[in-house]
Amino acid sequence: MTQPADSSNGRSAPDGQLRQGGRTLLLAFYTALRSLKLYPLENATVQNALADLDAMTRRLLEIETELEIRMAGDFIFVNATRLRVELDNYASFSHILAMFRAFEIGALRIRPGIDKREWQVFLSLLLRLSEGAPPAEPMEELQDRLDEAKVTHLELDSPLPEGGSTELSRQAAKQVYAQGVAVTKDVIGSVRMGRTARLKRVKRAVQLVVDQVLNNETSMLGLTTIRDYDEYTFTHSMNVCIISVALGRKLGFSKVQLCDLGMTALLHDVGKARVPAEILNKAGKLDEQEWKAIQAHPWYGALTLFSMRAYEEIPYRSILVAHEHHMKIDLTGYPKVVRPRTLGIFSRIVSVADAFDAATTRRVYQTVPVEPDQVLREMWENPKRGQDKVLVKALINLVGVYPVGTCVILDTFEVAVVSGASTDRQQLNRPMVRIAMDAEGGPVPLPGTEVSLSEKDESGAFRRSIVKVTNPDRFGLTVGDYFV
Ligand SMILES: [Fe+2]
Ligand SMILES: [Fe+2]
Repeated sequence: MTQPADSSNGRSAPDGQLRQGGRTLLLAFYTALRSLKLYPLENATVQNALADLDAMTRRLLEIETELEIRMAGDFIFVNATRLRVELDNYASFSHILAMFRAFEIGALRIRPGIDKREWQVFLSLLLRLSEGAPPAEPMEELQDRLDEAKVTHLELDSPLPEGGSTELSRQAAKQVYAQGVAVTKDVIGSVRMGRTARLKRVKRAVQLVVDQVLNNETSMLGLTTIRDYDEYTFTHSMNVCIISVALGRKLGFSKVQLCDLGMTALLHDVGKARVPAEILNKAGKLDEQEWKAIQAHPWYGALTLFSMRAYEEIPYRSILVAHEHHMKIDLTGYPKVVRPRTLGIFSRIVSVADAFDAATTRRVYQTVPVEPDQVLREMWENPKRGQDKVLVKALINLVGVYPVGTCVILDTFEVAVVSGASTDRQQLNRPMVRIAMDAEGGPVPLPGTEVSLSEKDESGAFRRSIVKVTNPDRFGLTVGDYFV
């Protein structure tokens, strides 16, 4: 979910102008909806109402880069401006609110380029779908139909969860994460069954991830520490997506590039769908044959994505990354290459994110995960890991020397879980932590008390410092519990 648009992302109208314009827009929307309900499409009333709505939208889009109509409780916001409900617009407002609520729509985003036809398709769909029994996922259903009808300038978004602002952003991040995991599951499942994957959903899920990383990076990165044992392939894909997008952002990528990168990262292991699950989940050592099957996943991935190209738009780079992500920059990885080549920037980013997430995750055949700080050190120091050093450095800057989710012992004898990067960029070794156990070894109620390690006492000395990194299992702690 995006934050309401504000002046920072481009042109923006003064508040009053937007309030007035927003009210007129909603009224035009309501009038068009009602006339379409009463009369056939060709009727002049309908055509005039649609023309009014179209003209009003265009006028507002001349002063705003994008329009977002968001419902929050009983209020309607246009971009960040709340519209006042008055007697003359009460009926239209409450009707629109009720309709959006019934479709579980939190917001409608309108982009420049919208025309009369797109409005007409959208309104007709709203009317038609609200006649019968409501579909299980009304908003998804509506969005799918819009996509089918090639309505590309209208986009729906889920409601924001209720709660305080930090709580709100954490909840929003969680929702986006869960959605990403679900679509990955859907894609891999479809490939396994030989069905066509619904890539539009993947694309939308990735856009939400990008929005979250741009607005709410800490909560989003925190979620990558929830490492679900059974759902490894899916959560891993999602984590690699988040970490890659965050790295791309550090490198100054544009939003469009971040969306491409996120999509690429989410699909990097799609080839695993063609590797038998018994091999993927095998607890013991793999024999040569099995290892070969695993090593085939980059190639399978490239083939799978290539075959999807017939139906959907797949960036060429995604195919390349699926193929290259285990090659290593010195090409000592797999698959083996005959001719020398230079890995593209997307492949190098995904490879760093992949290596970091894979090594810090507990998997069936890896009962003891390596501690995150060791993983970073190893990636940085050991050339055999074949990672791009500039990108490893960017990753360290991103997650800190002690990445979120690291369990640490403090000099106060408290045990804590790192919850965010340091607030002070000069002190990467002093992150935000949540105290999980007090000095006496007693548990602190979840989700722990959050403190900054750069905090000093009256004498100017640091209140708490990290003594060492530890394995959370030794204290019976599940790091994911500290981010719920
Ligand atoms: Fe892989
Ligand atoms: Fe991977």
